[in-house]
Formats: sequence, structure tokens, C-alpha cells
Amino acid sequence: MINKIALIGGGNIGGVLAQEIVRRRLAREVAMVDVKEPELAKGKMLDISEGSPILHSDVVASGSRDYSVISGADMVINTAGVPRTRRADGSIPTREELLKTNLAITDAVSAGIKQYCANAIILSIANPLDAIVYRLNMNLQPPRERLMGMAGVLDSARYRYFVAQEAGVSVDSVAAMVLGGHGDSMVPVRSACRIAGMPVEKFVAPEKLENIEERTRKAGGEVVKLLGVGSAFVSPAWCALEMAEAIIFDQKKILPTSVLLQGEYGVRGLFVGVPAVLGANGVEKVLEIDLTDSEQAAFMKSVTSVQGTSEEVLALLNK
Ligand code: LAC
Repeated sequence: MINKIALIGGGNIGGVLAQEIVRRRLAREVAMVDVKEPELAKGKMLDISEGSPILHSDVVASGSRDYSVISGADMVINTAGVPRTRRADGSIPTREELLKTNLAITDAVSAGIKQYCANAIILSIANPLDAIVYRLNMNLQPPRERLMGMAGVLDSARYRYFVAQEAGVSVDSVAAMVLGGHGDSMVPVRSACRIAGMPVEKFVAPEKLENIEERTRKAGGEVVKLLGVGSAFVSPAWCALEMAEAIIFDQKKILPTSVLLQGEYGVRGLFVGVPAVLGANGVEKVLEIDLTDSEQAAFMKSVTSVQGTSEEVLALLNK
């Protein structure tokens, strides 16, 4: 248990995070800030607090539209930003199309963190994922250990679920890694996908795997289409908590994490999803996984796409 977790953004992901933090007793205190609606965060956290006796949980939950509520937090989970949502014609925007709106929000988020909990470990979920973390890094310049993005855990969970369905085995028996950026060029690493330690190809035919990998790359959009309003929120929240728990309980779990690369994979200065050891200090180690030639090419293609969005972050800054 840590002392205090701050949730920035009172939308759907923030709501699930708050419930789960109270249920799992991950901190003595959880505070939510949402600047959009005057009393939204206050109302959400009061709702949860009033249910806390049922969960036998004494976690203190508070919410406000004022950033001072996050004062002194040890960990920040940032969800602030507009989500993707289905258009009237049924089409869906890419995550990158959210960039301009969400960058402005991210600058306000950075100022709040700087003022009230500058030393917190920051886990960001807002989209476009890798570009928003990049901007947080520009604004806050924390040690690399303390700033990361959640995307790969979600993309890998989706891959695992689809493989488990196809193979007819428990999701628990499937290990997988999806790396690169959190966009349509993300890389499901087939060579690292194992069912109870055995290569996935032993259970699932190559054409089926192709389909599963394509579905994984588009899985966020599939949910956006079905929901009609907004994007996936339960699984992203659970996945962020997988990372948060690894840090809170110093588990040294190896999880795909969007982290500032400093020469690993031949990349420098970009946030890209790669396997990392998460423990009490945050990102404790970045691991370089062996990739096949085609996976390596796909990874570099994904890096190029992240680079494009990150360059747009810089271009928008100069406007
Ligand atoms: C998704 C959003 C949260 O992948 O990026 O569902």
C-alpha cells in the first residue's frame, strides 16, 4: 500500500480506477481531479465512498475540480483527454486525430502535477498514448524511471484473449507481448507468444494467427464502433492497475510499457512500447527482446509512426 494515488480525469477510465483502488486497497487515499464538470469528480468519489462500508474498505476517496486535491500524491494515473468516439456516419477517428485537443489538456495536467506532486511516479493512459507521454516528458522532465505509458499491457491482453479463444485454453495459459506504438501499426510479437511455454503455432494455424494479429491491432476501434459513445474503459483501467500494482508492491513484473528509449532498439528520445521491469522505483529496467527479421521491420515501422506523431507534438508547440 502506498499513501496516495492521484487520478487525473473523471471519465469512464477514472471511474473504474477509483473503484478498483478502493476495492483493492492500493493506497490510503485516492484523489480524483476533473476540471470539466464543476462537481463530477466530487460526485463520483462520494458515490464510491458511500459504498466503501460494503467493501470493508477505509481508503479515503476524494474528488474536486481543483488540482490541489492531488497534493502530495506518490503516484499519478493520467486519463485526461477526449476519447475516440464513433462518428455519425459510423466511421471512427484514429487515436492520432485526438492529438491537438488532448495536447492542450496535457499541458494543464503537467502544470497540476508540477505544482502539487512533482515527484510522483506518472502512469499515463490518454491518447494518442505515446505522443501524450512524450509531451508530459517535455513539460516535466522527470527521471525516466518515473514516467511511463500504459498501452502494451492492454494490447497484449487483447492478443492473449483472442489466442486463448482460438486455442480453446485458459487466458491464463497464454503469454504474449505487443510492442511498438499504441496505434494501428503496433506489433503483436508472435515469436514471444507462448501457450504454457510452447510456441503458439503448435495450437493455432498461421492464417488464424494473422487474423488474430490484425484484430489485435484494430481492437480498440472495434470496441469504439460497438459502444457508439466513447472507447474501451474497463480493460484499460485494469491494465493500468496491473502496472500500478507492480510498482506499489515492488513486484519487478516484466510488462510492455511505453518508456523513453535511450538507445535501446536503436531508438533515442521517443516513447515506445517495449518490455520493462516495473518495481518500486517505476521503470527499473528496459529489456531488449529478440525479434525475428519481419518483427524487427514491423517494430521499426511502428517507431516511425510514433516519431511522426511526436514530431507533430513539436510542430503544434511552435504554432
Ligand atoms: C483502446 C484505447 C483506450 O485501445 O486506446 O481501447
